[in-house]
Amino acid sequence: MTPIDPTSASSAVTDPLSVPPFAVISGAQVQRALQGQEKEIVELVEATYRLHGAGDSVNPPSYFLRFPDRPSSRIIALPASLGGPARVDGLKWVSSFPENVASGIPRASAVLILNDHDTGYPFACLEASIISATRTAASAALAADWLSRGRQRPTRVGFVGVGLIARYIHSFLAGTGWSFDELGVHDLSVDSAAGFRGYLEQSGTASQVSVYDSAEELIRSSDLVVFATVAAEPHVSDVSWFEHDPLVLHVSLRDLAPEILLASTNFVDDVDHCLKANTSPHLVEQLTGNRDFLAGTLNDVMAGRVEVPADCPVIFSPFGLGVLDLAVGKNVYDAVLSSGDLHVIDDFFHEQRRYG
Ligand SMILES: NC(=O)c1ccc[n+]([C@@H]2O[C@H](COP(=O)([O-])OP(=O)(O)OC[C@H]3O[C@@H](n4cnc5c(N)ncnc54)[C@H](O)[C@@H]3O)[C@@H](O)[C@H]2O)c1
Repeated sequence: MTPIDPTSASSAVTDPLSVPPFAVISGAQVQRALQGQEKEIVELVEATYRLHGAGDSVNPPSYFLRFPDRPSSRIIALPASLGGPARVDGLKWVSSFPENVASGIPRASAVLILNDHDTGYPFACLEASIISATRTAASAALAADWLSRGRQRPTRVGFVGVGLIARYIHSFLAGTGWSFDELGVHDLSVDSAAGFRGYLEQSGTASQVSVYDSAEELIRSSDLVVFATVAAEPHVSDVSWFEHDPLVLHVSLRDLAPEILLASTNFVDDVDHCLKANTSPHLVEQLTGNRDFLAGTLNDVMAGRVEVPADCPVIFSPFGLGVLDLAVGKNVYDAVLSSGDLHVIDDFFHEQRRYG
């Protein structure tokens, strides 16, 4: 692998008549590019939701590859095309193998392929577990902001399920100006709860950190609740746990029984995407036969088309859109390119003459 002159890579990528160089961007490079960029990335995610809402994107359904011999695992393909300033196509290919965690390696691993708008050529392969966690956390922080604007700003946050995604969500909340009196933690795994507590304490938080043995106690004590478990089906069904009208970021999508959603105001990132794959909103649609329980999308709230009520629980269930991976991935690519550290694989596209 050889470093490339940023100016030549930039013109090659935008030149429709030449084959772009193919680059590989490591997780370390991705992390460096995103370090301390929480506010900028939340703004980027907001702009991307607006582009998607305006139709300047193509985001077909994700494809779930599942295995009869490994029922808890899956690999998901998220193809997408994004307009706006990024003008990029691509695919995130993300594995979820929950049993990895017991062996001390992360559940999720991913790559993101970026394709050139004009030639269709793939021009970069990026380590994407960090991009995926980053766009998920930025979307959660954005939702926490917009969905709490007409209500009392939350002061007690509770995390149900505290792996990598919960850590990223916390750091995006902190990095975009949120501070809390209390940080609550609940996880079925004692080790995860202890690990997350250790992370919070090391992060220098001024908040009181409490670990709760029961989800009920944590939810009742929190006005912002974040679900980031790996639950495959609902494990929370008692509507009374939500009688204090919290804002709920239902990032793991399958924790809440239909009755909880039916007693709440519900927002999603994209209606067609979210009502699939037995997510809790999908279960409600199957139960009721309609989509009347949905108040709208986050973009509807940002565009002022839908008000967020202050007197009932509010739940945001984001399916996770490929266009967000593209936006964050292209941002990382541009940063690595302009730093001069882009590593190109020489001769990657080799057969370029039509008749040899
Ligand atoms: N919506 C999106 O855009 C999006 C994007 C990325 C990840 N996710 C989801 O976020 C979730 C978390 O991902 P991660 O990488 O942090 O996983 P992880 O495996 O690192 O952590 C999950 C934690 O949840 C805990 N847990 C499992 N069931 C629980 C339960 N019933 N109650 C309390 N704790 C429970 C586990 O013990 C573990 O500590 C996954 O479901 C993943 O699919 C969603």
